[in-house]
Amino acid sequence: MKSGVVLGIETSCDETAAALVINGKLIADRTTTQLLHEAYGGVVPELASRAHERLLMPAVSGVLKDAGVQVTDIDAVAATYGPGLAGALLVGVSFAKGLAKGLNIPFLGINHLEGHLWGAEITHGHIPQPFLGMIISGGHTITIDVQGFGKYTLLGRTHDDAVGELLDKAGRMLGYSFPAGASIDQDAMNFTGKPVHFPRARVKCDDRGFSFSGLKTAVLYYLRDKTRCQGVVPDSNAPGYAVNRGGLTGGKQPEGWTLNSVSQGNGYKLSPVERAAVSTGMLEAVSDMLINGLSVVWDNNKYKALVISGGVASSRFLRTRFERFADERNIPLYIPPSEHCTDNGAMIAYVGYRYMQSGYTSPLDLAIDPALGL
Ligand code: KG4
Ligand code: ZN
Repeated sequence: MKSGVVLGIETSCDETAAALVINGKLIADRTTTQLLHEAYGGVVPELASRAHERLLMPAVSGVLKDAGVQVTDIDAVAATYGPGLAGALLVGVSFAKGLAKGLNIPFLGINHLEGHLWGAEITHGHIPQPFLGMIISGGHTITIDVQGFGKYTLLGRTHDDAVGELLDKAGRMLGYSFPAGASIDQDAMNFTGKPVHFPRARVKCDDRGFSFSGLKTAVLYYLRDKTRCQGVVPDSNAPGYAVNRGGLTGGKQPEGWTLNSVSQGNGYKLSPVERAAVSTGMLEAVSDMLINGLSVVWDNNKYKALVISGGVASSRFLRTRFERFADERNIPLYIPPSEHCTDNGAMIAYVGYRYMQSGYTSPLDLAIDPALGL
C-alpha cells in the first residue's frame, strides 16, 4: 500500500484546513479560520458547515498547488471524523470519501484528539514514549497516558467547561471579541501590575479532574461588584446570553444580571489596565489548575516526555508555566508551534500517514462521531 502522499482534511469546528504530508514530512499546509462567527460571540454550527463547503475546495487545491502535486499523485485521504460539530465533520468526511472513491485510494477517518496528540512530531520529530499528553482547547481539557501510537488511557478531564471555553466566555464578558484566548494571553503578557486574585477549583472525589465554570462565575461576580461600587444599575431586561448562546450553565446568576448586561456595557466599564489585571488573574488561576492536573498524574519513573497541545497551548503565558514544570522534573516538553496547536490539517495528514504506515485504513461507510473519545 503506497503511503507517500497523504492529504489531510480538518473541518471539525471553525477552521477549514487541508495539508499534504509526503513521506512523513509536511509539505503544504493551509488553514482558514472562519471569522464570521465573531459577530455571534461563538461558533454557529450551521454557518460553520456552510462555510466549510465554500472553503474546503480552495484549501485542497491550494495545498496541491503549493506542493506542485497533481490530484492523481495523492496516495490516501485522511479526514477528521470526530469529535466535533456533526454538520462540520460531515463536510470534510464526505469530501474525503468522495475523493478516495474517485481516485480509488484509501480513506482514513482520524480522531481529532489523536491529531492534537501527535501533531508535535511534525516539528519536533520522534517523541519518546510512554509520554503524558495534555490537550487544552475550546472543546477539551484532558490528560492522557500515551503508551504508544494508538495506545491511550484517559487520566483526567474537565467536569464542566473546557479551558478555552472559559477564556472565550469570560472574554466576552470582558468585551474581547471571539475567540478571546489570544487577546487575553497578549494582555496578560504585557501586564506588569497586580493581577486580580481568583479562586482555584478542585473537583471533589476526582483529584485528576478539572473544573473551570467557577472561575467564569468569579469573573462575572467581580464585574458585578465593580458596578455596584460605581452605583451603576444593571439592566435586568438585557437579553439573556444563557438562553441565546448557551453561556452560563448551572449555578445561579447574580440577581438582575446576565452576561449580556456585562458584555453590552450596561455594567461597569473596565479600563484597559483593569481588564488586563482580570485577564492576568484568570490565566494565573488557569495555569495553577492545569499544573495541578499535571502534577497529580505525573510519574517520573514512567513518562519520558510531556506533550501539550490544543489551541490554548498557543498561550505564551501558559507556555512559561509548562516549561517551568518540565524543567523542574528535567523532562523534555513538546508543544507544537502556535499554528499547529490550534486546529489544522497538518496533524490530520500526519496521523493519517502514521496509520497508513501501520497498514490501517478506514471503511468508506465509517460514520462521523461527534462525541468520539480517545
Ligand atoms: O484547538 P482549537 O483551535 O479548537 C478546538 O479544538 O477547540 O482551540 C481553540 C481555543 C479557543 O478557545 C481559543 O480562544 C484558544 O484556543 N486560543 C488561545 C490562544 N489561541 C487560541 N488561548 C490562549 N492563548 C492563545 N494564544
Ligand atoms: Zn482542536
